[in-house]
Amino acid sequence: MKKNDKIKEVVKQKYGDIVLLNQKSSCCSSSCCSVDGHSIMSEDYRAFDGYIAEADMGLGCGIPTQFANIQKGDIVLDLGSGAGNDCFIARAEVGESGKVIGVDFTPAMVAKARENAKKRGFQNVEFREGDIENLPVESSSIDLVISNCVLNLLPAKDKIFHEIYRVLKPGGHFCISDIVLKGELPRELSKAVEMYVGCVAGAIPQENYLAEISMAKFNEIEVVSRKKVNMPDELLLKYMHRDSLTAFKSGESGIFSITVKAKKNKQMNKRILILCTGNSCRSQMAHGFLQSFDPDLDVHSAGTNASGKLNPKAVEVMKEAGIDISHHTSDSVDKYLDGEWDYVITVCGGANESCPAFMGKVKHRLHIGFDDPSDATGTPEFILSEYVRVRDEIKEEFHAFYVNHIRQ
Ligand SMILES: C[S@@+](CC[C@H](N)C(=O)[O-])C[C@H]1O[C@@H](n2cnc3c(N)ncnc32)[C@H](O)[C@@H]1O
Repeated sequence: MKKNDKIKEVVKQKYGDIVLLNQKSSCCSSSCCSVDGHSIMSEDYRAFDGYIAEADMGLGCGIPTQFANIQKGDIVLDLGSGAGNDCFIARAEVGESGKVIGVDFTPAMVAKARENAKKRGFQNVEFREGDIENLPVESSSIDLVISNCVLNLLPAKDKIFHEIYRVLKPGGHFCISDIVLKGELPRELSKAVEMYVGCVAGAIPQENYLAEISMAKFNEIEVVSRKKVNMPDELLLKYMHRDSLTAFKSGESGIFSITVKAKKNKQMNKRILILCTGNSCRSQMAHGFLQSFDPDLDVHSAGTNASGKLNPKAVEVMKEAGIDISHHTSDSVDKYLDGEWDYVITVCGGANESCPAFMGKVKHRLHIGFDDPSDATGTPEFILSEYVRVRDEIKEEFHAFYVNHIRQ
């Protein structure tokens, strides 16, 4: 297992344990949660509208909703939503006309959050299980992304800011509370994988954090709150010698909790719909490649007779090419008949295939045909090689389309 995957497994395991511990001792928002029994930086949420004690496990490090300028009717996405604490606060602000989606990769957290919502009969809050580096959320569909003490648990942070950019609507914004460093964290601390679950060992210097946001094309980046985190000596001494601790505490470096916000450009992105019959294989691969060339594009794919699921071999060969499309959905073209499209591109190609007609409004219609690799017969090796061949052709053709029609 790769180091990053290993860290993620540890994080998932630890947060699963935290849910269990909470259920057993029925204690929340106290110091029973978080690293080694220390809740070191959580805030007091109790006065906020929408607060639900069972959802508050004391795992946050700020109050992102406080600075997020949530509007009635907003669609809000919470990354690493835990038992739903921030989602329920956001829900009170978006009102019945809005919606809140929480994503978390720890099954027990998602189950707890769903239970909290179900008990209260909430219809406009939904919890999805998934990795926030590959969000199970449609592109350009979210008004506001929030997150509380999660991003620095991710070994690679660049991916996530690109994902946030992808899912936000043009003009959408985010408000995120997180942990950053001033200076370097002592080596003993940053090496302790267990400290990841306390949101500390994965923290990076604030200037690098803000640079990642800026590299993902966000603007109006602003740190709206910053507080020093004082971790108890007895906790730090579990991971480092007293001499190192003394040097750490007397030095310039430190751990800070920040809340940062930023905006995605308002300018309308080009809207591109890729169409075939089943929307399970070729159109999905083209969708994945085109989106990877430019996160600013608003890319979708659909089928005139959508199968409702992705072809597993298409997912596999795309993964091999470094693109995870497993979160895509296989949708009917009816979903996309509204609004105007810059391009609708059909990708069917076999001699026996009839290309679907699109009845919506379109500026440019294009056809880039490919064989259907699911028609291949022969040995498993040959069949897989057909998927690889078609994948590589799709990459080349769609890159040419991107360079000649979009980037210019
Ligand atoms: C420190 S807790 C914060 C929970 C919640 N935001 C709160 O304030 O109560 C971190 C949460 O992020 C989730 N998480 C960590 N890495 C994740 C990832 N890569 N994808 C999805 N969820 C993740 C964990 O399962 C955990 O529920």
